[in-house]
Amino acid sequence: MKQTISFKLNDQNVSVDVNGDESLLTVIRTYLDKTGTKFGCGLGDCGACTILIDNEATRSCMVIVEDIEGKEIITIEGLASGEILHPIQKAFVTLDALQCGFCTPGMIMNALGLLIKNPTPTRDEIIYGMEENLCRCGSYNRIIDAIQLAAKEMNQKVKI
Ligand code: FES
Ligand code: FES
Repeated sequence: MKQTISFKLNDQNVSVDVNGDESLLTVIRTYLDKTGTKFGCGLGDCGACTILIDNEATRSCMVIVEDIEGKEIITIEGLASGEILHPIQKAFVTLDALQCGFCTPGMIMNALGLLIKNPTPTRDEIIYGMEENLCRCGSYNRIIDAIQLAAKEMNQKVKI
């Protein structure tokens, strides 16, 4: 049965009329046109659909939309400020931390969730925090480097 679900998406209040058991990933991509969040496995295994819900990195394919009533969602589209990229986005570009780019939005959102919880992670902590996000192109080393660089900029205001 359709119901109206209201929440904040990238700092804007939104409401959608959908079945409450629709996946949040489908709602974001299909009803709200935020296609930066990717559909990979749909099973919670790959991390391509990662977004932030109340600042917690979450796999949106595993969340039903009625559970996000009143919550705050951030997707990859919510990171840049106009033309100014978020430090994690800049670091991925600077260090060429992607090939096809399909996993990248999920990687960046998971990295942001990690850096919110732990602003100064060690390389091992980054590897541990990112290990369940899959990259079929095998860009892992550059992804880890980019997250280290982003953490530096975010903490020490190092200019990338
Ligand atoms: S699409 Fe959600 S974890 Fe793979
Ligand atoms: S860059 Fe292609 S899947 Fe990661």
